[in-house]
Amino acid sequence: MTNVIDGNAVADGIRADLEDCVDTLDNAGVTPGLATVLVGDDPASETYVSMKQRDCEEVGMNGIHVELDGDAAPDELYDTIDDLNDDSSVHGYLVQDPVPDQIDYREVIRRIDPAKDVDGFHPENVGRLVAGDARFKPCTPHGVQKLLDAADVDPEGKDVTIVGRSRIVGKPLANLLMQKTDGGNATVTVCHSRTQDLAEKTRRADIVVAAVGAPELVDGSMLSEGTTVIDVGVNRVDADTDEQRSSSSQNSSSSDDTEKGYELVGDVEFDSAKEKASAITPVPGGVGPMTRAMLLYNTVKAASQQEDVDVSLP
Ligand SMILES: NC(=O)c1ccc[n+]([C@@H]2O[C@H](COP(=O)([O-])OP(=O)(O)OC[C@H]3O[C@@H](n4cnc5c(N)ncnc54)[C@H](OP(=O)(O)O)[C@@H]3O)[C@@H](O)[C@H]2O)c1
Repeated sequence: MTNVIDGNAVADGIRADLEDCVDTLDNAGVTPGLATVLVGDDPASETYVSMKQRDCEEVGMNGIHVELDGDAAPDELYDTIDDLNDDSSVHGYLVQDPVPDQIDYREVIRRIDPAKDVDGFHPENVGRLVAGDARFKPCTPHGVQKLLDAADVDPEGKDVTIVGRSRIVGKPLANLLMQKTDGGNATVTVCHSRTQDLAEKTRRADIVVAAVGAPELVDGSMLSEGTTVIDVGVNRVDADTDEQRSSSSQNSSSSDDTEKGYELVGDVEFDSAKEKASAITPVPGGVGPMTRAMLLYNTVKAASQQEDVDVSLP
């Protein structure tokens, strides 16, 4: 029987362990602080940062939110970043992507103090990850690694095909899974929009990770029996035009979403993939909750490092 990996349950377990770490820090007089910076009023970004702030509160961390107008000059954002770098109550922070056109996101990332870069996007942290000396593992790839562990799927010696080579998911995940360390030691193939014969690459894999942003691109015909399938994709599809699939799918999103006129689907066609997979993550309820949990993880780690207080990270 296929193991449908419950990302909410795995994330809850990690959050419970992080609460113990927060208690340890609290006993030493330290409250971990996570700041989110939002430039503009993109509705999806507003939702993401409000969830991150709520997560902070729930585990007893200090959440700080900074909002700048969508037409803010780059210098205004740089001043905010400089203030956050200097603020000792802020142990980690992120600038929510995307930023408006007048701002160069790469310059933003370079300005963040690498010790507070809990997304793990600063070039110094990217370099450390590649070198096998990660300070902060980027949240989504780290969440994928934790999900594999929770499902008792050891990447060591396995063929992994990652579909997608983005800066935030595909590339760092490939680096994590190829490292000569626990949770790594895989043979990794990274596919992208120019890859020829994608199905041949996914069929030969023991583990397939889809991080594309293309609804249900990977289906059961592209998988071999017994594959582990991790679906990172989150795509809104029109509930009206997709009625037939949504009513037959065992993994459509909630009726709340359907009432809003859309539903969430992944980059994997769940029903046909589940027929072949030994383990598979659903969308929603798979990788998404893990990304949020691993942001809390990195913030606790940042607080522990900056305040020199030992904690037992999960
Ligand atoms: N659950 C979570 O917490 C979480 C976190 C982050 C992202 N996501 C979701 O994950 C998905 C990917 O996000 P991202 O930021 O990594 O996306 P991205 O930056 O747009 O990258 C997409 C990647 O997919 C590749 N690609 C596009 N079409 C392809 C095709 N037909 N065949 C093979 N590869 C193809 C692209 O290739 P090129 O490089 O050649 O363009 C690119 O490398 C999105 O749905 C996003 O919403 C979820």
